[in-house]
Amino acid sequence: MGESEKKMTIQEIIGAVEDAVRESVKKAYGVQLEAVGLDFPPDVSLGDFAVNFFSLAKEIGKSPAEIAKTVVEGIVAGEFVESAVAAGPYLNLKINRKTLFNAVCCEILEKGEKFGGSPIGQKKRVMVEYLSPNTNKPIHLGHIRNGSLGMAMSNILEASGYEVVKAILVNDRGVHICKSMLAYSRWGNGETPESTGIKGDHFVGKWYVRYSLEAEKNPLLKVEVQEMLQKWEAGDKETMDLWKKMNDWAYQGFNETYEKYGFEFDKYYFESETYKLGKNIVEEGLKKKAFRKDKNGAVVFDLPEEEFGRDEKGQARKMAALRADGTSVYLTQDLGTAVSRAEDYSLSRLIYVVGNEQVFHFKVLFKILSVLGYSWAKDLYHLSFAMVYLPDGKMKSREGKVVDADNLLEEVQNFAAEEIRKRDTESLIPENEIVERARKVALGAIKFYLLRVKPSQDIHFDPKESLSFEGFTGPYCQYAYARIAGILRNAEKEKTDFSQADFSLLGNSEERLLLQKLAQFPAELEKAAGEYNPLRVLTQTYEVAKAFSQFYNAHPVLQAEDKKLITARLELIKAAAVVIKKGLSLLGIEVMERM
Ligand code: ARG
Repeated sequence: MGESEKKMTIQEIIGAVEDAVRESVKKAYGVQLEAVGLDFPPDVSLGDFAVNFFSLAKEIGKSPAEIAKTVVEGIVAGEFVESAVAAGPYLNLKINRKTLFNAVCCEILEKGEKFGGSPIGQKKRVMVEYLSPNTNKPIHLGHIRNGSLGMAMSNILEASGYEVVKAILVNDRGVHICKSMLAYSRWGNGETPESTGIKGDHFVGKWYVRYSLEAEKNPLLKVEVQEMLQKWEAGDKETMDLWKKMNDWAYQGFNETYEKYGFEFDKYYFESETYKLGKNIVEEGLKKKAFRKDKNGAVVFDLPEEEFGRDEKGQARKMAALRADGTSVYLTQDLGTAVSRAEDYSLSRLIYVVGNEQVFHFKVLFKILSVLGYSWAKDLYHLSFAMVYLPDGKMKSREGKVVDADNLLEEVQNFAAEEIRKRDTESLIPENEIVERARKVALGAIKFYLLRVKPSQDIHFDPKESLSFEGFTGPYCQYAYARIAGILRNAEKEKTDFSQADFSLLGNSEERLLLQKLAQFPAELEKAAGEYNPLRVLTQTYEVAKAFSQFYNAHPVLQAEDKKLITARLELIKAAAVVIKKGLSLLGIEVMERM
């Protein structure tokens, strides 16, 4: 029976292929290849794996094509490697079908939801800070992109062995917070979220909008806001009471939204608690001459020209860390927040998931912390992401025209329910079940849509498109899962067992493609963790769903020719379901057995 009978893992197969390539390279050129760079060719008919020789070519001064031709000679086709073919700069390898299907399907079915995880993060702790709202306005679509990215990143890192601390910073004090407080104290008439029936964060947001409208008419309000901030920093009782009351309203609203979207946090940081530490840091830094007092009295940090260039007027750049009146700014609290995190945890990395309009802010923050001598400053990372627009333009909170997260979900969920009802021609699905399915579909649609491009790319959010069952969408993947679940339900009576499956019966091109997409999942997950890029997981999950659909359109499962083939195909699609579910759950998306 030989080697091919023994069940190998995907990793072992990759290792064995790499060894065969290494050996042949060594025999031909006497060179020990470190990284083989095994790849999955885009066209499975070419092979299961491919190797290119671009870097070796540079090293030994021969053309990649020539190397491929030579190396192929040294690889003996046999039980394990079925064929090796040189194609231009590539070497394409086909592995014994049975060995490959056995390895991939059995590993997935054995590991279940643990499949694809790796130990790269073992014994390392990372903090992912995400969402981080201000308490003067509700959660909007940009936050949902942030939250989707933050949760996905956290899940992916966890699957890769890291201990992840999901953190949130609440910017709960400052000028902007005082604006909604001022407006409410002036025109609120004792209204509350309860008395008006408005969700707490929306209620507070309403007063922020009101402030902006009033301030256009009456510029003096600006002065009043500054006075209010000074009172707040002095701990004035009345101001503090108002502040607490309004923030509590905001939190009640936020929590509801987090729960709906599945955003979770292990640790809360509040600007109101860290800004003082920030002030101390700046004052200490001033003594050590890392900062200086500017002419106008503000405490500033001079940004080194080599890194930051000059400003629009050709002046050297500086950044205020304290205002002239001594009150603190956004940067002040971030200095304090970062230091208090380093005191709370030993972290190998701190990832800030924050929009790209703050690239400069974080560059400055990291620079200052490193100048101040914090050794961990090098471990800080800004995972920045671009804007989300609606098809009709940017969302602007100041005019009150926000793409509000709660309304958005409701709207998409309504579309989804409509869609489900349309398909339920005989009205068999109970109403509560429709609502629950619509909820999962809507969340799947929104999160997938927000994660399906590189973080650096802008998004024009189109609710209807996000829900399409046909495109590059969450519902498409959820639907593939539900179809498999349906087939498995019908097969229930068969009670198949993968240890009995004869995978040598599989091997047509659709089966090979599906298998390849499954086999590639762990590598993509590992890269996603290393590059802080959930898109890799999303794309791979979609690829699996698509390969399943292509397979199922071309071949029957329960109606296959004989029982053995039925069993083998059932195990293959069962494995596909495991991977789709795993991939989606890493993205914070739920699957359903019926859709
Ligand atoms: N609350 C801020 C805003 O809405 C984002 C905070 C980001 N995190 C941080 N550590 N600065 O703009």
